[in-house]
Amino acid sequence: MKKRILSGMRPTGSLHLGHLVGALNNWVKLQDAYQCYYMIADWHALMSEYENPKGLKDGSIEMARDFVASGLDPEKSVIFVQSHVPEHLELSMIYSCLTPLALVERVPTYKEQLREITGRDLTTYGFLGYPVLQAADIAVYKANAVPVGIDQIPHLELTREIIRRFNNIYKKNIFPEPEAILTKTPKLLGLDNRKMSKSYGNAIALSDSPEVIGKKVSSMITDAERIKLSDKGHPDICNVFSYYATFTTPEVVNDVRDWCQGAKKGCTECKKNLAGILVDCLEPVRQKRAKLTDSKVKEIIDDGSRRARKAAGETMEEVKKLINLVA
Ligand code: TRP
Ligand code: SF4
Repeated sequence: MKKRILSGMRPTGSLHLGHLVGALNNWVKLQDAYQCYYMIADWHALMSEYENPKGLKDGSIEMARDFVASGLDPEKSVIFVQSHVPEHLELSMIYSCLTPLALVERVPTYKEQLREITGRDLTTYGFLGYPVLQAADIAVYKANAVPVGIDQIPHLELTREIIRRFNNIYKKNIFPEPEAILTKTPKLLGLDNRKMSKSYGNAIALSDSPEVIGKKVSSMITDAERIKLSDKGHPDICNVFSYYATFTTPEVVNDVRDWCQGAKKGCTECKKNLAGILVDCLEPVRQKRAKLTDSKVKEIIDDGSRRARKAAGETMEEVKKLINLVA
């Protein structure tokens, strides 16, 4: 039997190139070797968007569309929406009973987010429990592995700790301790050289049209010391160059290095060329997206959520028996 994977993302905005190279491309590759559960974490999104949840439902549909357009195959993988599978909350409740307060208060992402996310009040009971729900997301499928970025490692550590406590207290190894499958994330900054984030408006979305991609790329900051065409450039400090490194072949990267350092081509031309490459790279995604009608996407989510509920239900039946909630 194939090992199981679970991973998820919060539907708080359009997916962009950073998601594609940092997660989705890897998720696509894992589909054959593992039984994959890919989740749209709308409850986790609600934790920060509870005052203004208007975009949640449409955000989930858009995210599923982006998932499938990027190559996730709903026949192979279970693509589902977290809130359509109430079993996550049941297990989260049980986990919260056995999770020491000190453990969740200590999670570094918790304090970090409280500090960094302004304009929202995150000093809530729900937000403190963020990683407990995440632990339940993973364990309710008995997932063996979780493909994540390095930022999620503390959450995975807590997941493992909760699972060990559960298995210890009830003297039965119902849940495997999940391993991280660390996604090597190529360092891809936003168009303005800050961290790529939809809240900064500095990312190329998977759904951007070729025109929008052209405009965005032409706005990118290049080597600030290269003012005239005859100035030699420094590709290694240029963000445009790092996009070439991520989205093209070593040969192309060499060409770019050559025309930049040799002052053979200007930045405007270099960026035009990059825009073309990114447009081509997103062309298959765009074509698939266009074919995915709302009703088709809803069908995929409904089917995925039904399959997810079946697996999660089986785990919860076992759990409830073990802790004497049912006979
Ligand atoms: N916390 C993850 C993020 O912000 C999203 C998430 C929720 C998740 N539940 C998960 C990721 C379970 C992996 C496994 O990106
Ligand atoms: Fe950057 Fe290209 Fe200009 Fe060199 S030529 S500085 S790589 S944009």
